[in-house]
Amino acid sequence: MPDEQRPQRRGGHRPSAVVAAVGRIADDYGARLGRPLEVLDLGGGTGGVAVPLAEAGHRVTVVDPSPDALASLARRAREADIVDRVTGVQGDGDSLDAILAGRHVDLACCHGTLEFVDDPAATLHAIARALGEGGMLSLLVSGRLSVVFAKAIAGEFGQARAALVDPFGRWGSTDPLPRRFDVEQLEALLTEAGFTDVHVRGTNILGHLVPASLVDSDADRAALAELDELLVTGPGREFLRSLGSALHVVARRG
Ligand SMILES: C[S@@+](CC[C@H](N)C(=O)[O-])C[C@H]1O[C@@H](n2cnc3c(N)ncnc32)[C@H](O)[C@@H]1O
Repeated sequence: MPDEQRPQRRGGHRPSAVVAAVGRIADDYGARLGRPLEVLDLGGGTGGVAVPLAEAGHRVTVVDPSPDALASLARRAREADIVDRVTGVQGDGDSLDAILAGRHVDLACCHGTLEFVDDPAATLHAIARALGEGGMLSLLVSGRLSVVFAKAIAGEFGQARAALVDPFGRWGSTDPLPRRFDVEQLEALLTEAGFTDVHVRGTNILGHLVPASLVDSDADRAALAELDELLVTGPGREFLRSLGSALHVVARRG
């Protein structure tokens, strides 16, 4: 894990904590295989995950439909001097088979993307095909229950109810997210796509419920992040993972 990630983890910004967790998974798996990993980042955007992984020595193929995101990725890769380890390809889950052309990757990341695809089950199947047997998946998606709580606490009871009962977890027609997920639904989708050892962890449980006005120092942010971490790691509290604003899944292709 690059050193520059570590202060952010202590500072408690949850997306960076997830990036750090993915870095540890990649480094551990790479150490077991005795070589840097081949990584696929589907919907990798501007490289928030890909750049740190490439900086750690892994080779990353980012597949994303957005030319603008891919241009930013290329710029970041040049600035970080890792162009030989980062490849950006315009495409989506449907084009993975053609892009990889039979090549398998060791680790697939899909962060903040499954919410936007037309068919999450088909996308997870495509990712499973891209992974070699035993390959690892890091999947990060938005959780449904967190938005129900956030809306209710904000007094938006109708929107809270809509998010709870809507098949896609949306709070209304102007909700910018096309889809949110429940833990059980994720576990079923992943099992059906051929993944095993599926671990779902809730992140940012309290962080997104506390008004920003109450968190005005790095010490506050760190304390809140530590509280969030303790909430899901303590014994008997695993059920709280369902309340994470993001659900981080780590799984293995069986
Ligand atoms: C919220 S961003 C997440 C970016 C990055 N994974 C991260 O965690 O910072 C969602 C990304 O998914 C991409 N995207 C949207 N629809 C997609 C699809 N059908 N297949 C793959 N990527 C898609 C977008 O272009 C965008 O880069």
